[in-house]
Amino acid sequence: MENLLVINASPQGDGSYSRQMTARFTRLWATNNPDGKVVERDLGRRPVPHVDEQWISAAFTSEEARTPDQRTALEISDALVAELKNATTIVIGCPMHNLSVPSTLKAYIDQIVRIGVTTKLVPDTPQSPYMGLLSNKSTYLMLVRGGYGYQSGEAYAPMNFQEPYLRAVLGMLGIRNVKAIALEYTAVHSNCFESALDG
Ligand SMILES: Cc1cc2nc3c(=O)[nH]c(=O)nc-3n(C[C@H](O)[C@H](O)[C@H](O)COP(=O)(O)O)c2cc1C
Repeated sequence: MENLLVINASPQGDGSYSRQMTARFTRLWATNNPDGKVVERDLGRRPVPHVDEQWISAAFTSEEARTPDQRTALEISDALVAELKNATTIVIGCPMHNLSVPSTLKAYIDQIVRIGVTTKLVPDTPQSPYMGLLSNKSTYLMLVRGGYGYQSGEAYAPMNFQEPYLRAVLGMLGIRNVKAIALEYTAVHSNCFESALDG
Protein backbone atom coordinates (compact mmCIF):
# COMPACT_ATOMS: atom_id res chain seq x y z
CA MET A 1 0.00 0.00 0.00
CA GLU A 2 1.18 3.56 -0.73
CA ASN A 3 2.21 5.31 2.45
CA LEU A 4 3.11 9.01 2.68
CA LEU A 5 5.26 10.17 5.60
CA VAL A 6 4.82 13.92 6.18
CA ILE A 7 7.63 15.43 8.25
CA ASN A 8 7.18 19.02 9.41
CA ALA A 9 10.09 20.80 11.07
CA SER A 10 8.75 24.33 11.42
CA PRO A 11 8.24 25.45 15.02
CA GLN A 12 5.58 27.82 13.69
CA GLY A 13 1.88 26.98 13.48
CA ASP A 14 -0.46 26.75 10.52
CA GLY A 15 0.84 30.09 9.14
CA SER A 16 4.23 28.49 8.52
CA TYR A 17 5.12 28.48 4.84
CA SER A 18 6.70 25.03 4.88
CA ARG A 19 3.59 23.63 6.61
CA GLN A 20 1.41 25.19 3.91
CA MET A 21 3.62 23.54 1.28
CA THR A 22 3.50 20.07 2.86
CA ALA A 23 -0.27 20.44 3.42
CA ARG A 24 -0.77 21.27 -0.24
CA PHE A 25 1.46 18.36 -1.30
CA THR A 26 -0.47 16.01 1.01
CA ARG A 27 -3.83 17.08 -0.43
CA LEU A 28 -2.62 16.44 -3.99
CA TRP A 29 -1.02 13.13 -3.01
CA ALA A 30 -4.22 11.96 -1.27
CA THR A 31 -6.26 12.82 -4.37
CA ASN A 32 -3.89 10.76 -6.52
CA ASN A 33 -3.68 7.92 -3.95
CA PRO A 34 -7.22 7.57 -2.56
CA ASP A 35 -6.33 4.26 -0.84
CA GLY A 36 -2.99 5.54 0.47
CA LYS A 37 -2.19 6.16 4.11
CA VAL A 38 -0.81 9.46 5.43
CA VAL A 39 1.40 9.43 8.55
CA GLU A 40 2.41 12.75 10.12
CA ARG A 41 5.60 13.31 12.08
CA ASP A 42 5.45 16.80 13.54
CA LEU A 43 8.92 17.67 14.82
CA GLY A 44 8.09 21.35 15.26
CA ARG A 45 5.24 20.67 17.69
CA ARG A 46 6.48 17.40 19.20
CA PRO A 47 10.29 17.30 19.03
CA VAL A 48 12.06 13.98 19.47
CA PRO A 49 14.83 13.71 22.08
CA HIS A 50 18.50 14.25 21.33
CA VAL A 51 20.64 11.15 21.39
CA ASP A 52 22.46 10.74 24.71
CA GLU A 53 25.15 8.52 26.22
CA GLN A 54 22.76 5.61 26.88
CA TRP A 55 21.43 5.83 23.30
CA ILE A 56 24.93 5.73 21.83
CA SER A 57 26.04 2.77 23.93
CA ALA A 58 22.82 0.92 22.98
CA ALA A 59 23.09 1.70 19.25
CA PHE A 60 26.65 0.39 19.16
CA THR A 61 25.86 -2.82 21.09
CA SER A 62 24.57 -5.76 19.08
CA GLU A 63 20.84 -6.32 19.40
CA GLU A 64 21.21 -9.67 21.22
CA ALA A 65 23.64 -8.21 23.78
CA ARG A 66 21.54 -5.16 24.74
CA THR A 67 20.48 -4.74 28.36
CA PRO A 68 16.81 -3.90 29.10
CA ASP A 69 17.85 -0.25 29.72
CA GLN A 70 19.63 -0.10 26.38
CA ARG A 71 16.54 -1.49 24.63
CA THR A 72 14.45 1.19 26.31
CA ALA A 73 16.94 3.85 25.19
CA LEU A 74 16.35 2.87 21.55
CA GLU A 75 12.55 2.58 21.67
CA ILE A 76 11.86 5.98 20.14
CA SER A 77 14.53 5.47 17.48
CA ASP A 78 13.15 2.01 16.63
CA ALA A 79 9.63 3.46 16.22
CA LEU A 80 10.90 6.32 14.03
CA VAL A 81 12.93 3.91 11.87
CA ALA A 82 9.89 1.59 11.44
CA GLU A 83 7.76 4.59 10.44
CA LEU A 84 10.39 5.64 7.89
CA LYS A 85 10.79 2.13 6.46
CA ASN A 86 7.02 1.87 5.95
CA ALA A 87 6.89 5.05 3.88
CA THR A 88 6.79 4.76 0.09
CA THR A 89 6.86 8.56 -0.30
CA ILE A 90 8.29 11.17 2.06
CA VAL A 91 7.67 14.90 2.11
CA ILE A 92 9.77 17.11 4.40
CA GLY A 93 8.79 20.69 5.24
CA CYS A 94 12.02 22.40 6.24
CA PRO A 95 12.66 26.08 7.01
CA MET A 96 16.23 27.33 6.80
CA HIS A 97 17.42 28.06 10.35
CA ASN A 98 20.82 29.69 10.58
CA LEU A 99 21.89 28.38 7.19
CA SER A 100 20.87 24.80 7.97
CA VAL A 101 17.89 22.75 9.15
CA PRO A 102 15.93 23.39 12.40
CA SER A 103 17.55 21.63 15.36
CA THR A 104 14.42 19.48 15.76
CA LEU A 105 15.05 17.98 12.32
CA LYS A 106 18.72 17.41 13.20
CA ALA A 107 17.62 15.58 16.39
CA TYR A 108 15.30 13.41 14.25
CA ILE A 109 18.12 12.65 11.79
CA ASP A 110 20.37 11.56 14.66
CA GLN A 111 17.60 9.19 15.80
CA ILE A 112 17.07 7.55 12.41
CA VAL A 113 20.60 7.25 11.03
CA ARG A 114 21.59 3.93 12.63
CA ILE A 115 24.68 1.97 11.61
CA GLY A 116 23.61 -1.56 10.69
CA VAL A 117 19.91 -0.58 10.58
CA THR A 118 19.41 2.26 8.09
CA THR A 119 22.98 2.60 6.79
CA LYS A 120 26.30 0.83 6.95
CA LEU A 121 29.90 1.93 6.84
CA VAL A 122 31.88 1.08 3.72
CA PRO A 123 35.17 2.97 4.25
CA ASP A 124 37.39 3.87 1.31
CA THR A 125 34.49 3.81 -1.14
CA PRO A 126 34.57 6.66 -3.66
CA GLN A 127 31.93 9.37 -3.12
CA SER A 128 30.53 8.13 0.21
CA PRO A 129 31.73 6.05 3.16
CA TYR A 130 28.09 5.00 3.76
CA MET A 131 25.80 2.56 1.99
CA GLY A 132 22.12 3.15 2.62
CA LEU A 133 19.95 0.25 3.73
CA LEU A 134 16.54 1.79 3.04
CA SER A 135 14.87 0.94 -0.21
CA ASN A 136 14.65 3.96 -2.43
CA LYS A 137 11.66 6.15 -1.70
CA SER A 138 10.35 9.16 -3.60
CA THR A 139 11.26 12.10 -1.41
CA TYR A 140 10.18 15.72 -1.76
CA LEU A 141 11.84 18.59 0.09
CA MET A 142 9.71 21.68 0.71
CA LEU A 143 12.41 24.21 1.58
CA VAL A 144 11.71 27.71 2.87
CA ARG A 145 14.07 30.63 3.45
CA GLY A 146 13.40 34.07 4.79
CA GLY A 147 16.13 35.49 2.59
CA TYR A 148 17.27 34.70 -0.94
CA GLY A 149 20.31 33.98 -3.07
CA TYR A 150 20.98 30.49 -1.64
CA GLN A 151 20.09 28.55 -4.79
CA SER A 152 22.80 26.75 -6.76
CA GLY A 153 24.90 29.27 -8.72
CA GLU A 154 23.71 32.24 -6.62
CA ALA A 155 25.79 34.44 -4.33
CA TYR A 156 25.05 32.66 -1.03
CA ALA A 157 24.92 29.08 -2.37
CA PRO A 158 28.16 28.18 -0.49
CA MET A 159 26.33 29.11 2.76
CA ASN A 160 23.41 26.78 2.03
CA PHE A 161 23.73 23.88 4.48
CA GLN A 162 20.03 23.09 4.20
CA GLU A 163 19.38 21.37 0.82
CA PRO A 164 22.91 19.90 0.30
CA TYR A 165 22.88 18.58 3.87
CA LEU A 166 19.44 16.96 3.52
CA ARG A 167 20.43 15.38 0.20
CA ALA A 168 23.66 14.01 1.74
CA VAL A 169 21.85 12.54 4.76
CA LEU A 170 19.13 10.98 2.60
CA GLY A 171 21.94 9.57 0.42
CA MET A 172 23.46 7.93 3.55
CA LEU A 173 20.15 6.10 3.92
CA GLY A 174 20.05 5.04 0.26
CA ILE A 175 17.39 7.59 -0.71
CA ARG A 176 18.49 9.31 -3.92
CA ASN A 177 15.18 9.93 -5.64
CA VAL A 178 14.90 13.42 -4.15
CA LYS A 179 13.14 16.46 -5.61
CA ALA A 180 13.34 19.86 -3.96
CA ILE A 181 11.19 22.99 -4.20
CA ALA A 182 12.44 26.15 -2.51
CA LEU A 183 10.40 29.17 -1.47
CA GLU A 184 12.63 32.16 -0.71
CA TYR A 185 11.95 35.79 0.29
CA THR A 186 9.44 34.86 3.05
CA ALA A 187 10.90 37.56 5.33
CA VAL A 188 11.01 40.06 2.47
CA HIS A 189 7.69 39.77 0.63
CA SER A 190 4.52 38.98 2.59
CA ASN A 191 2.81 37.59 -0.52
CA CYS A 192 5.71 35.36 -1.65
CA PHE A 193 3.68 32.14 -1.30
CA GLU A 194 0.76 33.43 -3.38
CA SER A 195 3.16 34.86 -6.03
CA ALA A 196 4.99 31.53 -6.23
CA LEU A 197 1.67 29.72 -6.78
CA ASP A 198 0.75 32.19 -9.55
CA GLY A 199 4.19 31.96 -11.16
C1 LIG B 1 15.95 30.66 14.25
C2 LIG B 1 15.76 31.11 12.81
C3 LIG B 1 16.85 31.16 11.98
C4 LIG B 1 16.70 31.58 10.64
N1 LIG B 1 17.79 31.57 9.82
C5 LIG B 1 17.64 31.91 8.52
C6 LIG B 1 18.75 31.89 7.62
O1 LIG B 1 19.87 31.52 7.98
N2 LIG B 1 18.56 32.25 6.33
C7 LIG B 1 17.33 32.63 5.87
O2 LIG B 1 17.19 32.95 4.68
N3 LIG B 1 16.24 32.66 6.70
C8 LIG B 1 16.38 32.31 7.99
N4 LIG B 1 15.29 32.33 8.85
C9 LIG B 1 13.97 32.69 8.29
C10 LIG B 1 13.12 31.47 8.00
O3 LIG B 1 13.76 30.60 7.10
C11 LIG B 1 11.78 31.92 7.41
O4 LIG B 1 11.09 32.72 8.38
C12 LIG B 1 10.90 30.78 6.96
O5 LIG B 1 9.72 31.32 6.40
C13 LIG B 1 10.53 29.85 8.11
O6 LIG B 1 9.78 28.78 7.62
P1 LIG B 1 8.30 28.53 8.17
O7 LIG B 1 7.49 29.72 7.69
O8 LIG B 1 7.85 27.26 7.54
O9 LIG B 1 8.38 28.46 9.65
C14 LIG B 1 15.42 31.94 10.17
C15 LIG B 1 14.32 31.89 11.05
C16 LIG B 1 14.49 31.48 12.34
C17 LIG B 1 13.28 31.43 13.26
